[in-house]
Amino acid sequence: MFIKHIATAAAVLSLAAGPVLAAPSESKVKNYDFSFEGLTGTYDQNQLQRGLKVYTEICSGCHGLKYVPLRTLSDDGGPGFTEAQVRQYAADNFEVYDEELDDFRPARPSDHFPENNGAGAPDLSLMAKARAGFSGPYGLGINQFLNGMGGPEYIASLLAGYTGEEKEEAGTILYENTAFPGGWISMAPPLYGEDTEFDDGHANDLENISKDVAAFLMWTAEPKLAARKQAGLTGMIFLTILAVLLYLTNKKIWAPIKGRGKRES
Ligand code: HEC
Repeated sequence: MFIKHIATAAAVLSLAAGPVLAAPSESKVKNYDFSFEGLTGTYDQNQLQRGLKVYTEICSGCHGLKYVPLRTLSDDGGPGFTEAQVRQYAADNFEVYDEELDDFRPARPSDHFPENNGAGAPDLSLMAKARAGFSGPYGLGINQFLNGMGGPEYIASLLAGYTGEEKEEAGTILYENTAFPGGWISMAPPLYGEDTEFDDGHANDLENISKDVAAFLMWTAEPKLAARKQAGLTGMIFLTILAVLLYLTNKKIWAPIKGRGKRES
C-alpha cells in the first residue's frame, strides 16, 4: 500500500517536472554572426542606421527606449549621425512632454527616446542584455567572451521565429514563436520582411531586417562595447608582457643560487 503511494507520487512528480525540464530546449535561438562579436569586434555603422530605421518605423509604435539619450546617436562607435542629423531625426520622429510648457513639443537631442508601454510592451533599452542567456550560464565565460552574450541572437530569432499559428487565451491573442520561452508570445509578428526600404539598397528580407534591429538594440544596451573590449585587450597585452618580464627577472635573481646547487652535487 505504502509503496503504491510512493509510486503514484513519483509518477505525478515526473509528469509535473517533465514540461518544466523540457521548456528550455524548445526555445530555438539561431547563432547569427554579428560584427561586434569576438575579441576586437565593433558595431557596423550602416547596420546600426538600418536597425534604427526599423525601430523608428515599426517597433517604437509599441516599445520605448527610455534609457537611451537621443544625442548618443552621434557618439563614436554608434550609428554615426552628425549633430545636425540628430537634431533633425529627433524633431522629425518624436514628441516629448515638456513640464515647463505643460505641453508636447518636438524632441531635442538632449531628450531621451520616449518611453512607450501603452500596448503592454516592455522597454527595449536594455533588452539585449536582459535576454543574454544564449551562450549559457555555464562554463568559465570564455564562450560568452568570444561569441557574445546571445541577446541579439535571441532578439533576431524571436522576430524571425513566428510560425503563423495563433490561439486565444483569456481574451488575449497569442502567437506561436519558436524562440520565445514557452512558445507563445502576445506580440503580434512585427516584421514580415520588406517592411522598410534601406537607402543603401541593403537586403530587407525578414532575417536581415531582424538582425539589423537586433544589432541596434545591442548598441542601445551596450553603447561602449568597442571601447570596453579595447581596454580589456590593452590590459591583457600589458599583463602578458609583465608576466614575461617577471619570469625573466625571477630566473635572473635565482640563477646564482641554482647554479651553486648544481656545482655541489
Ligand atoms: C503592436 C505592438 C508591438 C510592436 C509593433 C512591436 N512589439 Fe515587441 N512586444 C509587444 C508586446 C505586447 C510584448 C510583450 C510580449 C509578451 O511578453 O508576451 C513585446 C515583447 C517584445 C520583446 C521581449 C520578448 C521577451 O523575451 O520577453 C522584444 C525583444 C520585442 N518585443 C522586440 C520588438 C521589436 C524589435 C520590434 C520592432 C521590429 C517590436 N518588438 C515591435 C508589442 C509590440
